[in-house]
Amino acid sequence: MPRMDFSGRVFLAPLTKGGNLPFRRLCLAHGCEVTMGEMAYARQVVRKSRSELALLRKHQDETCFGVQLAALKPDESVAAGLAAVEQGASWVDINCGCPIRDVVRRGMGAVLMKKTNTLVRVVEAMARELPVPVTVKLRLGWSLDSQNVSEVARLAEEAGAAAIGIHGRTREQRYSRAADWEAIGRVASERGVPVIGNGDLLTHYETERLWQQSGVASVMIGRGALIKPWIFREIAEGRAIEPTAEERLAIYFDFAAKLKEHFRDDEKGRTRAMRFLPWHFGFFCRYRPFPREQFEASSLEHPLIQTRREPDQDLSTLEQLLRDPRDEVHERLAGLLWDAADVDAAMVAADELAVELPPTDGEAGEIATAHG
Ligand SMILES: Cc1cc2nc3c(=O)[nH]c(=O)nc-3n(C[C@H](O)[C@H](O)[C@H](O)COP(=O)(O)O)c2cc1C
Repeated sequence: MPRMDFSGRVFLAPLTKGGNLPFRRLCLAHGCEVTMGEMAYARQVVRKSRSELALLRKHQDETCFGVQLAALKPDESVAAGLAAVEQGASWVDINCGCPIRDVVRRGMGAVLMKKTNTLVRVVEAMARELPVPVTVKLRLGWSLDSQNVSEVARLAEEAGAAAIGIHGRTREQRYSRAADWEAIGRVASERGVPVIGNGDLLTHYETERLWQQSGVASVMIGRGALIKPWIFREIAEGRAIEPTAEERLAIYFDFAAKLKEHFRDDEKGRTRAMRFLPWHFGFFCRYRPFPREQFEASSLEHPLIQTRREPDQDLSTLEQLLRDPRDEVHERLAGLLWDAADVDAAMVAADELAVELPPTDGEAGEIATAHG
């Protein structure tokens, strides 16, 4: 297996629930080349929990796939890492950013930014024992007045980390503040190993600018991919791709087909897929085109992913339906995509639904919870 190169890449971020295997395949179909799985608990992997082992599984088309572990004990981390390698992981990442109370209370995730001795022991053991590179995904620190990412990144590199991902926020910040790319850039300039910058990338021009200005080796995309999986192609080709409502419905239909392939096309499969598909519409519905000429200047002030736009005028009924933020609409859309025999049938069913449901002028609120 060729050694993983962490420079010049665009990573799909680890996304609990969002980074399911069918969604990762959708990203691959739209230009993504480096995927990461959902965070798995090292301890549960070692105990061979079926649901946790499922998180290590990759599709054969994922040629560059990273597994992320929540871990705190070196021996468990090594054993879980080896299980990931057995399943085909190209590298293994340690989550040091998860803010969720339960994870933090159990000594994992963002608390490793404070318990650096634990982090060093885990990285050292994994770097020594695993046949693939080990990385860490950090935040800027625990809180605004304890931003120690420079120190933690140094310790991680010295312990053997092959690359360092940085989500440019602290544990206590929510998504309301912009990610601090200057801070990410500072660490990139201090470190010998590649730094992967992460936070707020939604358009190709924001990505190009922040990648270049910060001097990071690579970038990582989370919510941007959940909102528009074609963002990878936009970045690769350096241009905006603005699919029509019909084209987007076809992309969502393709996703439903991939879910069907994964979970099987029967009642049980449908039930399992419906834990994901309506949830994804909570992100898909946030898609808006942001033409460079119109939005580049404002993107310098504030990331476009946080922009609240005025409701657009004169939208087609299908466009209004796809932008609808209501859960019940997401359920209906997911159901019709699953039931449709082909894209044309899905289009007809969506048009009917658009007529049946009067549109709302509500805007979707703050973007979901985050684990890293
Ligand atoms: C739904 C969701 C699930 C996430 N799950 C994880 C996770 O399992 N591990 C992790 O390190 N970060 C996780 N994150 C954080 C992202 O990987 C990323 O660091 C963060 O969203 C900032 O990047 P973005 O602005 O491109 O979304 C999650 C974020 C979201 C929105």
